Amino acid sequence: MHISTPETREITRHAIRGDRDVRRALLHQRPATLWLTGLSGAGKSTVAYALERCLLGEGHASFVLDGDEIRRGLNRDLGFSPVDRSENIRRSAEVAKLMNDSGIIVIAAFISPYREDRAMARLLVGHDRFVEVFLAADAITCEQRDTKGLYAKARAGVIPEFTGISAPYEVPTEPDLSFDTAVQSVDCVVTALFDWVKSHYC
Ligand code: ADX
Repeated sequence: MHISTPETREITRHAIRGDRDVRRALLHQRPATLWLTGLSGAGKSTVAYALERCLLGEGHASFVLDGDEIRRGLNRDLGFSPVDRSENIRRSAEVAKLMNDSGIIVIAAFISPYREDRAMARLLVGHDRFVEVFLAADAITCEQRDTKGLYAKARAGVIPEFTGISAPYEVPTEPDLSFDTAVQSVDCVVTALFDWVKSHYC
């Protein structure tokens, strides 16, 4: 895990970020990052956006950070090698951290296939507000769904280093929450997450 420290450079931190309680009172919530991890096709984005709708519908400031979207802008220079995936997660976790600092509940949807990178994300965001959510649909189900047609391309050798086919996915050993999206419906998962967020952070 490589997290460069600013100590060796001339970077000064404001000592106190005392506005945390003000933001909490303003938004009637505690910020958190729900980090959705799982294979492509496990339903991360679908669950993330549905959960965001539920939270916004009840007046809770929330925002989805989605791998496919972030890779169009901030991370457009990154590919899918282990090093690039790691940098993708590092930058995205830094964004989640900033959004949490601003008071917003973040729903992050990234394959994030490496345990070490997910641990780095937890460290960057902060242990007390990072929730690892494993969407555990099995590889066969995800490939059968092939919602984006990417598994077929990966099998044909058109997409290299494709997670689950030619690149690894390291299953979370101790996720905070876990759902088998091969058998549980999107509605069921979203309702469970919505209730969980409300009871812990709102
Ligand atoms: S991660 O591994 O770095 O966390 P991320 O979640 O940002 O990945 O992006 C995954 C999305 O990129 C997939 O949903 C898919 O649409 C697209 N994609 C393109 N190439 C690949 C690949 N080689 N492996 C996995 N996903 C890919």
